[in-house]
Order: sequence, then C-alpha cells, then structure tokens
Amino acid sequence: MGVLFLVCESSSAPVGPRQFTWSPSYAATLASVVLLGPAGAAIVGVFAALRLRRGLLVVQRVFNGAMYALSAYAAGRAFVAVGGRWGVPHQSSFPGIIGPFAVAALVHLVVNHGLVRGVLWLTADSSSKQRLPAVVDIRLMLSDLGYAAFGLLIAALWSVVGPFAAVLVVIPLFVARWAMRQYAAQQSAYEATMAALCKAVETKDFYTRGHSERVSKGSAMLAREIGMRANRLEAITYAGMLHDVGKLGVPTKVLQKSGRLTEEEYAAIQLHPMRGLEIVREIGFLDEALAGIMHHHERLDGRGYPLGLAGDEIPEFARVIAVADAFDSMTSTRSYRGARRIDQAIAELRKWSGTQFDPALVDAFVTALEREGWERPAPIDPPASSPVGVTAQDHDDPTAPLQVVENR
Ligand SMILES: [Fe+2]
Repeated sequence: MGVLFLVCESSSAPVGPRQFTWSPSYAATLASVVLLGPAGAAIVGVFAALRLRRGLLVVQRVFNGAMYALSAYAAGRAFVAVGGRWGVPHQSSFPGIIGPFAVAALVHLVVNHGLVRGVLWLTADSSSKQRLPAVVDIRLMLSDLGYAAFGLLIAALWSVVGPFAAVLVVIPLFVARWAMRQYAAQQSAYEATMAALCKAVETKDFYTRGHSERVSKGSAMLAREIGMRANRLEAITYAGMLHDVGKLGVPTKVLQKSGRLTEEEYAAIQLHPMRGLEIVREIGFLDEALAGIMHHHERLDGRGYPLGLAGDEIPEFARVIAVADAFDSMTSTRSYRGARRIDQAIAELRKWSGTQFDPALVDAFVTALEREGWERPAPIDPPASSPVGVTAQDHDDPTAPLQVVENR
C-alpha cells in the first residue's frame, strides 16, 4: 500500500494555476483505512514524505508525511467509530461497509484540506499567488472525494486478486490523471494567449494599462450578479479582457490624436470592434465572447456601432461589457480629466441607462459594486522617456464623446 501511495503521490498532475497539484493518492489511503486500520493507514500516509520530486524542502516533506498520516489516522478512527471493521472485506461485508467508508472518506477530505488551507493561510504573507480560485478548490475536493471511492474498490478486490488489485485500479486512475494534465495545460495556454493579446493592445496606449483586466473583472461581477452560468462566466471574462483587441488595427496616431478627428479617423476608431473580431475569430474557445467583442459599442437606442443594433438585438455579453467598460473608463485618470469618484460614475451610468446602457444591467452592476466594492486604479503618469503613447480621447468615456470635425 505504501508503494501504491508513493506511485500515486509522485505522479501528481498540475491543477489550475501555479504550484497546485492533484494526485490520486486518496485511493491508496482510503484503501489502507479498510485493509490496515487507523495505525496502518497512518503509516501508509507517512510515505508522502518520500515523494519523488526534486526541489522539495525537508520541512515540506515532513509536513506532507505528517499531514497524510494525520488525515489517514483520523479517517481510520472515524471508520472504526461508526462501526466499520478493518481487514480484507468479504462479500458479506457489503453493503454494511459503505456507510463507514463514506464517513472515513469525508473525514479524510476535511482533515487533509483543512491542514492544507491552514498552512497556506499561515504562510500567506503577501504572496496572494498561493490562493486557489474557489471554483478550482471545490472541483478539487469533489474529485478527491470521487477518487476516494476507488479505495473501496481496491480493498474489495484485494480478497480476490491480492496486491494485484492496486495495479488494476491504478490504471484508470492514471488515465484520469493524464486527462487532468491535458486540461491544465490547455487552461494555461488560454491564459497565456489572453495575456499576450492584452499586452499588445496596451503597448499602444499608456493610459489603458490594466483597463482590459478591470473590464474583465467588472463584467464578471455583473455577470455573477445576474446569475450567469459558470461556463458563460468564464467566456465573459475572456471577452472583457479582449474587448478592445481591435485597437491593434487602428493607426496609433489616430488613437493618440488630441484634436478633433476627421471623419476617416473617426470611422477607423469605429471599426475597432470589427477588427477585434477579425483578429480573434479563429480562437475556438472564445465562442460567445466574440459577440461581446464585436458589439461592445452598440447602444440600447440603436445609435451605437458597428451595426447600430438596438435593445435585445444586442447580445447580452456586449450589453454587460458596455457597462463595465464605461465605468472603468470614467473611474480611471485620462489625459484630459482626472478619475471620477465611484458615485459620480454610477450617476453617469444611471443618466445613460435606457439610452446607452441596459437599465437592468446598470441596476445589477450597482448592486454588485455596493456588495463587492471597486478599487479605482492609481493615477499613472507616463514617464517622459516612455516610448508608449497616450490616448488623448477615450472612446469608452460616455461623458466626453469623441470630437469629430463636421465639414472637411
Ligand atoms: Fe472599445
């Protein structure tokens, strides 16, 4: 069992961002609870200290060994306490063993995750990097609980095939681990793609640094408020990030022009949602996000661009992004004005609610702001030597429409 545990633990797959990894070792500890009892399971847990991975500090090895030993022991005690009898189970042990096993799996999960959370909290200092997104955390706990069930399978097979049970069960576990690794790799490729595109847009304009991320954050806040499903929520964060990617197709001198724009220049700016769509259209995972990018400057009264859609014709993603986009623009410093206060920006959103913005979404955004708060970006001054230019007129600012010459 110790060898099985070590094999599982040493082949953990990365999950989500950074150093979080997942391994099917729960199956081994829970099988030990049934086959070996509390003390035996604790000894199997100690094998975590031997995990084959370079770069682990002694203190981390000691922590891992102690953590797994403790959680396995607690699970074993719980198993016995609710009437489970350890040893190789027989046909007659079923279904009676299932209840105690479920309790043991739950106790193991709570103790194990509790200790991990605890040590992350104690060592958190300023590196918020260590925080795992809540969604990943719940997925991780559910999959741990699910794979714990394989422990019972190992124990049950043991009476028939002996130690070979471990080999039989480990094969599907490794297939699962391989799938998780693929998923994690795909996720980080998505994130890198997003980041690269955002960087490219922001090199065009000093003042819009961080704008993409904040619009993404604001859109997600609003989407959560209106109860958007998890997969659409993910898509809208991408859409928020990339909404202005089409600026890459607008000449920099037009973006940075401070006087009135000629009609051609204004038309070039109005083309940016279409250009954005052209740039990212082939990225398959963007899906519904594409509609958000293409229509984020439509207005409810039909006077927006590029298509002049009105009311419900405007995709929901685009209506959400429009609110977050204007709000972030108003609460950020621009070369022609300072940042507005949150309450001023809310008043502006309300003023344009019904003509430019969807009133229901403005209300939902204000509710979300009241609950979650909003941090305005610190004013930034472009260094004199910066090669990055500054947009003189912000196309996202509803209070200062772009100035266009009427007759050339
Ligand atoms: Fe835009």
